[in-house]
Amino acid sequence: MIFDEYTIKSLVRPVPDFPKAGVTFRDITPLYRSPKAMRMVADSLIQRYVESPVTHIGAIDARGFLLGAVIAYELNKPLILFRKVGKLPGDTLKDTYATEYSKAELEIQSDSFAGGEQVLLLDDLIATGGTFLAAARLVKQLGASVYEAAAIIDLPDLGGSRKMQDADIPTYSLCAFA
Ligand code: PRP
Ligand code: HPA
Repeated sequence: MIFDEYTIKSLVRPVPDFPKAGVTFRDITPLYRSPKAMRMVADSLIQRYVESPVTHIGAIDARGFLLGAVIAYELNKPLILFRKVGKLPGDTLKDTYATEYSKAELEIQSDSFAGGEQVLLLDDLIATGGTFLAAARLVKQLGASVYEAAAIIDLPDLGGSRKMQDADIPTYSLCAFA
């Protein structure tokens, strides 16, 4: 299906003062509710990466899981879960980070990568970039590389995508709200 940025953006709802005063939350649930829009999102990402050297899909808890599962299935690649802390059994690595409205810890199982993998990180949205930066640090610690970090939406005013590029993380989004 042909990607139409207007359709995608019209399905992202601004919610003032959520989850706390001063934050305008970009709610993507209307987008996830639209099969047509989600097909556009999935098709665009699949087209972008189908011929790439990506070996693994890294999906971010929780909204990134929804995207990661679809793309991993279509590209037939292993799906690695980057979870909020305390959910993964076995040996793990953790990284602490801050977002626009929370402080959180991301965790990955230590045996997720053996070294040399090319990981596509997926999430719904880039705000401060804290989450993707933490995930990228975990990927590196396990000897793998971030091929690209991709999201449906970028909020460039919050500076995250710039920070990621400054940290040499190839960054991609399907659309931006400036
Ligand atoms: C949101 C969003 C991204 C992250 C983006 O997740 O889904 O993962 O914040 O913000 P950042 O660029 O400032 O790091 P949230 O932590 O709210 O968790 P959720 O997916 O469980 O709702
Ligand atoms: N919307 C959804 N997730 C977010 C946002 C937002 O505006 N900011 C940080 N994470």
